Amino acid sequence: MSLLGRELTEVFAQDDGSILLIKQLFLAMQTRKLRGSTDQRTAAEEESLREMLQAQADCEPIRVQRSGPHLVIDRQRVRTNGDLKLLARSLSSDLERFGIGGFVLDPAIEPQDLSNFLDLYSRLDQVFLESEAAVKVTDSRGVERVVLEEEVEVVPGVTAFPYSPESDAAALDPNERRRQARRTFFRALRGARHVFKQAQLNRIPELRKTRAVVHEMIDTVVEEEFSLLGLSAIHSFDEYTFQHSVHVAVLSVALGQRLGLPRSELASLGVAAMFHDVGKTRVPRKVLWKPGKFDNAEWKLMRKHPLAGARELLRMGGASDLAVRVMLVCAEHHMRFDGSGYPKLGEDWQQGLFSRIVATADCFDAMTASRVYMERPFTPDAVVRYMIENTGRVFDPDLLREFVGLIGLYPVGSLVRLASGELAVVTEPPSQPREVDRPRVRILEAAAAGLAPGEERALAEGALADPRYQIKAGCHPMDFGIEIDDLLQDYYLDDVTEAAA
Ligand SMILES: [Fe+2]
Ligand SMILES: [Fe+2]
Repeated sequence: MSLLGRELTEVFAQDDGSILLIKQLFLAMQTRKLRGSTDQRTAAEEESLREMLQAQADCEPIRVQRSGPHLVIDRQRVRTNGDLKLLARSLSSDLERFGIGGFVLDPAIEPQDLSNFLDLYSRLDQVFLESEAAVKVTDSRGVERVVLEEEVEVVPGVTAFPYSPESDAAALDPNERRRQARRTFFRALRGARHVFKQAQLNRIPELRKTRAVVHEMIDTVVEEEFSLLGLSAIHSFDEYTFQHSVHVAVLSVALGQRLGLPRSELASLGVAAMFHDVGKTRVPRKVLWKPGKFDNAEWKLMRKHPLAGARELLRMGGASDLAVRVMLVCAEHHMRFDGSGYPKLGEDWQQGLFSRIVATADCFDAMTASRVYMERPFTPDAVVRYMIENTGRVFDPDLLREFVGLIGLYPVGSLVRLASGELAVVTEPPSQPREVDRPRVRILEAAAAGLAPGEERALAEGALADPRYQIKAGCHPMDFGIEIDDLLQDYYLDDVTEAAA
């Protein structure tokens, strides 16, 4: 098994914790229903449940949710093979009967509250009706149903939340989804700016606050990866470091999501990515903002930022689990897959999974951002080609393959010539990893002021042989006098004042 495969197995072993816990909860409820609350077997199942909860008391609350006929635990659909089938089917139909979307269980729940919850469980719909948190409605087929209208604490440690079909990505229209992504993005940007300003002023920014922003980012990436990736392709509207941090966080979370990392891991990864360059607040500004090339002395200063970042984290977060993981990413994000890069931390030092993910996203964003200060900047498709050429040396090959599947061979912001001769700009990455060269584009049409974006075309939807749906080559916008950022802003930021407010 590859290195990546092994690491993912380890991560999944952790993730199974949530599923196993919910499975035990289900078992305890079923036994109680079948044998009554005083039966020995009931007591034994509840005791196992309590032990499992205790073991996971420090973990994040577990979110159990129904999505159509499926059961989703911590945003991951429970695979309905084998022994989980019954669990998934029964629990999701229970949730439907109770008129709720699901519940959040805090593993630190008190034993007495847990007993009360198990007692209440089979008649939750009645409980909600009595407390007036739910109403009875008659659906189109004339069947009466209970519908929870607001979030309710069932017992301390368990909160039920209403069902919302809107959270189903398919139910949202594309403009609304883009708007949501935009809100998340700007909130993340504000969060990053705050964190960096605090660090610059020698105050202690809170890791936990960033985590809240990142959770929002994950929701959006899970449901609407494309819009966030698109926003991350724009480099001209804010101070570089904040913007770069948010871009790297979005790309890292999206990549982590492709790898199937569980939500709690994605959250830590997102925070780590947000902070990866925090050590740059310790690099003198005249070096950091110098246009053009660095001399040797300046490079020496720049190369200190990974370890400076790790020290900064020590100051911020002490030795919490999260702080340590973020610290490692700070220290390791300029190391390379083959052991080269900097800093040198010893012969057998191995760059961790999070660091390799962040390093991949970091390089992509830093190189595409070069268009802000380079005379003839790299185009996004040229950056991807460079990265592929350096696979196995600079980048983890398994990760890079996934990354290219995510952003495509012609990432958002690439200018391309179609086989039909038309010129187009890429606005959204391909929706299938297999179709790396078939993104969504906007055709550029002649207008009074040069070229203007016209028809939208999803290249993956056309016939393979149709030249209007084939990319022939990437082009350089400077050869056509085009400002790509302007075109993308038009697409992604049409009501930016509302989003930034
Ligand atoms: Fe860096
Ligand atoms: Fe960076």
